[in-house]
Amino acid sequence: MPNLVVVGTQWGDEGKGKIVDILARDADVVVRFQGGSNAGHTVVTDRGTFVFHLIPSGILYRGKLCVIGNGVVVDPAALIEEMDRLEAKGVKIGKNFAISQRAHLILPYHKAIEKAAEQSKGSRRIGTTGRGIGPSYADKMARIGIRAGDLLNPPLFRAKLEENLGEINTFLERLYQVKGFHVEKVFQEYMGYAERLKGQIVETSLLLNRAIDRGQSVLFEGAQGTHLDVDFGTYPYVTSSSAAAGGAATGTGVGPTKLERVMGVAKAYTTRVGSGPFPTELTDEIGCGLQERGKEFGSTTGRPRRCGWFDGVLLRYATRVNGLSSLAVTKLDVLDGCKELKLCTGYRYGGALYKEMPADLQVLSECQPQYEVMSGWTAATTGVTTYKNLPVQAKRYLQRIEELVGCRIDMISTGSKRSETIILRSPFAPSRARSKS
Ligand code: IMP
Repeated sequence: MPNLVVVGTQWGDEGKGKIVDILARDADVVVRFQGGSNAGHTVVTDRGTFVFHLIPSGILYRGKLCVIGNGVVVDPAALIEEMDRLEAKGVKIGKNFAISQRAHLILPYHKAIEKAAEQSKGSRRIGTTGRGIGPSYADKMARIGIRAGDLLNPPLFRAKLEENLGEINTFLERLYQVKGFHVEKVFQEYMGYAERLKGQIVETSLLLNRAIDRGQSVLFEGAQGTHLDVDFGTYPYVTSSSAAAGGAATGTGVGPTKLERVMGVAKAYTTRVGSGPFPTELTDEIGCGLQERGKEFGSTTGRPRRCGWFDGVLLRYATRVNGLSSLAVTKLDVLDGCKELKLCTGYRYGGALYKEMPADLQVLSECQPQYEVMSGWTAATTGVTTYKNLPVQAKRYLQRIEELVGCRIDMISTGSKRSETIILRSPFAPSRARSKS
């Protein structure tokens, strides 16, 4: 079985958790490569509903190695809480779970900086999840980050913390009038985490490459989505990591030649949490209906998600920048009962028609989406497991998505349970992307 990267193609919350959970059955190793506890992957199994923030959902299967790669930023408190919750539900976490020694840590001051910075931005705030993600990645790039491996070397950890807090406390107190942090208190707190996590912190690039050399297959689990990627997303309204497929290489220490296939997950409509442009957003009762039927509330923050029509321009771009080999379309059943459906095929702005994703945020914020209108369907698709049992209008809708996006659909999700899925073809199967770009 080849290696497969799974990424979100919109603004996150595409239902990657369920898709990764299904695909994990056929993989030997599952690895997260970016983001942190800002992510929220929901998986519904016979044993109940599980929400994952950091640990790859593959942990639900016995015998799979689950890895947090170097590209992830780890909040040890959040991680331990997640481990405890899983263990309380009978999930075993031991040798099947590894954390990269190169993964950067989230420290209490990262959350304080983020909170103060967001507040001071007023209407220009990003609408972050408040998990300290951006400041932790900023420290990584500024070369003052503290890594998971540093937890194993207390004197080094302490020295780095002391040096950082010397500067950060002044910054917090003088610029934001926020109380600083005590070195000793933070040190003791993190040494407690070190005690719990020390058996898990290892050289994961070696682990992953050795597994590949043995012929095992690795599933790379993306978080957030392409349009939240720090390079390819709607900057600055993005997260601070590489959520697109390229991040799978830099975020794990597995070379790009070994990534092999990339599956993009797309909701049958579009959602977004937080601020930033959203050309196909619906602020009317149709949008409210999607939000209600799709239970569109963030699994990390509980915030309502903004909802809108499917955007072919977003997806076409995601096909290109990720080199998608196939797509999984989720939440098709949420569209049941819609009389008509709209698909965005381009953006109109200043007399021009944009068929490709503009980088200019002003264009994206002020453009008028150009729509194609299709008939909806009245029959329920919830729980449908074969393509032939879908209403003809749903098949036409999906075919049109494939054409617009230039990528084949391998999986269709028709409900939250594992069984409520149509698998047209294994995404591990060989086939080149049909990108039209
Ligand atoms: P941050 O990742 O907390 O810095 O937030 C930056 C932006 O990414 C905000 O708009 C968040 O709402 C959004 N975001 C971060 N993680 C997720 C996610 O898992 N799903 C959807 N949106 C997310």
